[in-house]
Amino acid sequence: MNTPRTPSALRPRLPSPLQVVEDQRFTRHGVRLLLKRDDLIHEAIPGNKWRKLTPNLDAAAGRPVLTFGGAYSNHLRAVAAAGRLLGFGTIGVVRGDELASRPLNESLARCAADGMRLHFVDRTTYRAKEDPRVLAEILRTVTAEGQGGPGPEDVFVIPEGGSNALAVHGCAELGRELRGRADVAAVACGTGGTLAGLAAGLAAGLGPGGSRALGIPVLKGGFLGAEVQRLQEAAFDARAGDWHLVDRFHCGGYARTTPELDAFAADFEQRHALPVERHYVAKLLYGLATLTEEGTFPPGTRLAAVITGRPPPPDDVIV
Ligand SMILES: Cc1ncc(COP(=O)(O)O)c(C=O)c1O
Repeated sequence: MNTPRTPSALRPRLPSPLQVVEDQRFTRHGVRLLLKRDDLIHEAIPGNKWRKLTPNLDAAAGRPVLTFGGAYSNHLRAVAAAGRLLGFGTIGVVRGDELASRPLNESLARCAADGMRLHFVDRTTYRAKEDPRVLAEILRTVTAEGQGGPGPEDVFVIPEGGSNALAVHGCAELGRELRGRADVAAVACGTGGTLAGLAAGLAAGLGPGGSRALGIPVLKGGFLGAEVQRLQEAAFDARAGDWHLVDRFHCGGYARTTPELDAFAADFEQRHALPVERHYVAKLLYGLATLTEEGTFPPGTRLAAVITGRPPPPDDVIV
């Protein structure tokens, strides 16, 4: 077997650029909007995918990686691309056994083209995947499918969305890059792993009065605060940094949108030549513009919006 390369061999653009944006909707309130361009870190593994995955891949040390996702998962695609670029095996456990008998959609086809072995499971199994017995059974099945390959104990498992303690440590570096450069650093949240690390990194080594982290959940449900805290405890044994959530910009839930949000995203894209990823980044920017209009940030605030990803190429339907 060839020795797999480590992620640093991929020449990421780090620290990611921090760009000042002139936008009247912010400047007329005395707020300085900055874009933290994590979307530019790496072509195939952009944004928070890079931040979360690379510490996991370092820990995997070339072992095959198994992870989970839906039929349009950006996370699965990033893991598959990393496997191809760095030379390790990847297994994607995909939600929905009905998909096994259909042609692969664009996203899963790309995972397969990158060498990812796809294993489809029914929704009940998928929901129970954190149960150690269910996970053990999945590992037994996938390793038996690839006969002569690795055993269950040789496989490195990364949770759905890539959020675990290692990922939170990876995202803390994002916070450290912003420390002293922003008063508020804001990020869109799915699992909350990026916010958990961002907040910790912003605060590291600072006394009270340092930068604050603001999370904009894109899912409906109000469960995220507990999850961010759980991830911080897993990573640092304690809550870390000054963070809070504003839970009113999900626009109806994951992958839901409104005409207003669509119009805002298209307009922002045009004004600032920024490709706006619609499921997370659009909601973040829309939320920040609204909060600024409402006078949430005092004049003089340096407000950094973390651009955690970019839109998929045309003809693609990634969510
Ligand atoms: C582009 C983008 N931004 C933000 C997030 C949310 O990240 P997290 O799940 O760490 O909250 C995701 C999901 O991974 C994403 O794909």
